[in-house]
Amino acid sequence: MRTMRTNVFAGGAVDWDRRLFDSLIPLPDGTSYNAYLVRGSEKTALIDTVDPAKAEVLMEQLADVENLDYLVAHHAEQDHAGCIPLVLAKYPLAKLITSPKGKTLIVDHLHVDEKRITTVGDGETISLGDRSLRFIHTPWVHWPETMTTYLAEEKILFTCDFFGSHLATTDMYAHDKERVYEAAKRYYAEIMMPFRHAIRNNLEKLNGLSIDIIAPSHGPAYDNPSFIIDAYKDWISDDPKNQVVIPYISMHGSTRLLVERLVGSLAQKGITVFQFDLAATDLGKLAIAMVDAATIVLGTPTVHVGPHPAVLYAAMLANALRPKAAFASVVGSYGWAGKAVEQIAAALPNLKVELLPPVICKGLPLAKDFDSIEALSGAIFEKHKARGLVQ
Ligand code: FEO
Repeated sequence: MRTMRTNVFAGGAVDWDRRLFDSLIPLPDGTSYNAYLVRGSEKTALIDTVDPAKAEVLMEQLADVENLDYLVAHHAEQDHAGCIPLVLAKYPLAKLITSPKGKTLIVDHLHVDEKRITTVGDGETISLGDRSLRFIHTPWVHWPETMTTYLAEEKILFTCDFFGSHLATTDMYAHDKERVYEAAKRYYAEIMMPFRHAIRNNLEKLNGLSIDIIAPSHGPAYDNPSFIIDAYKDWISDDPKNQVVIPYISMHGSTRLLVERLVGSLAQKGITVFQFDLAATDLGKLAIAMVDAATIVLGTPTVHVGPHPAVLYAAMLANALRPKAAFASVVGSYGWAGKAVEQIAAALPNLKVELLPPVICKGLPLAKDFDSIEALSGAIFEKHKARGLVQ
């Protein structure tokens, strides 16, 4: 483990080669599972463990740690909690500290003996002697049981997934700001965005704390906490930006022609557009683009009457991530008949969006179809202007 502060150590494992998380989320830059050891004058605590795939790394780091009094579990997901049984087996007297909801989930997911678990309420503190750990419940980042730990004597906040980034790096701190910002925004977009209202409450809860270091359990720590706190405040705000996201796919070129015309027209009006061909898109980048966009336009050809499955998947992803977009529409094409618009609209029940008139053409687009694209572009511009988004 590496020394973060006197008797505070950063350990865990860097997973350089992992490319998929939860069998769903792309990890272009790998990830890390951070664990922290805090030694007080009387007691020692380990904060979080690592993914079971990296159990050996953690257990080697603990080889010289003779006694462990507390193991803090912020979150029951296996990438942090998966090695709890191993650690508890190594230290038979250690207590597992978690939130009440964490206890239920850890028993369910890891079959930990309930007698080993001590639950802590929001704001409760345990003493390590000359240091203390205060537990702050921060639910829905991104499960219901999540909490953070504040080490007041060192002004360190341990946050697990909250403020984390999927980034494999040897840097202890986030000094490569551009790279960490993108990785943290990707992480926020993929798992935190659906809970942005809960995150707002959690950020308010942290307001009263004096924080020198934020130490998450993925990616580097922050020795300039305002960098990531301000980023989160921006991402969770209710105000979208003057941006349009267009995930689309094209089978024979018609939908692509509509999308390209729309992108060009919106750009002419000063609107920033993110165009994603779903045949070759990193879905994490699509998720990032959805964090701020005011409008989402899905582009689809027609496959057996409905939308292309890849576009339906993108719609389902948007519906699950619940971005702050205020407007949506569909452009696309069909061969002989189609219900793509209806099926895409039905896939977006969670989005609080106003649906703008779709543009669907039969076969190759004609001049009148491009006129309809111009009308859609104009409608998007007017909506953005009415929201005060256009400079
Ligand atoms: Fe990093 Fe939700 O686990």
